[in-house]
Amino acid sequence: MKRIVILISGRGSNMRSIVEACTGEGWPAHVVAVISNRPDAAGLVFAVERGIATSIVDHQSFATRDAFDAALAQAIDAHAPDLVVMAGFMRVLGAACVCRYEARMLNIHPSLLPAFAGLHTHRRAIEAGCKLAGATVHFVTSQLDHGPIVLQAAVPVLSGDDERSLSERVLAMEHGIYPRAVRWFVEGQLRTEGGVVTQTGGEPQLVL
Ligand code: GRF
Repeated sequence: MKRIVILISGRGSNMRSIVEACTGEGWPAHVVAVISNRPDAAGLVFAVERGIATSIVDHQSFATRDAFDAALAQAIDAHAPDLVVMAGFMRVLGAACVCRYEARMLNIHPSLLPAFAGLHTHRRAIEAGCKLAGATVHFVTSQLDHGPIVLQAAVPVLSGDDERSLSERVLAMEHGIYPRAVRWFVEGQLRTEGGVVTQTGGEPQLVL
């Protein structure tokens, strides 16, 4: 059984969708821990209710990013994960920490990368007049919100959309694609070559 550690900072709805799919679909994996950098992250409640180990590594308790990264890595490594899943984890990790989990750390970003890396993606997509928005699951590299793309979902930007309505439409897709991408990983169905990820079972890597 593969061991999954999930990192969150807040609501944790993506974490929840992964936990539910993992048990509901009988993946060859367990979510062994949920770690938050914020003590008040709402998602921790769900993890505790599910009997999943939780820990908090509060970034505010550390003087430097390196010190935070080291403590976070220690908390992650205590659970010996095969895969680390960032699910709304709102801290940027340094290169050393990212390298430690190379090819075994996933993130979801609410845009069609490489467009709109960083914050306020929905607002920026609307302001740019985009007709298409979406979400991307990718392997984490030391470049923020970049890295080999595993799976993308696209949704229309409708006239009259605001940040909230667009983010809700995108989030509903996130809850579909993130569990799927994590399942592919734990089932050994992902190959990366030259920065391009292939799903070896022939499942579509684009959801429309
Ligand atoms: C999601 O939109 C995710 O793509 C972004 O932050 C949000 C987290 O939501 N990185 P949740 O905590 O998973 O509900």
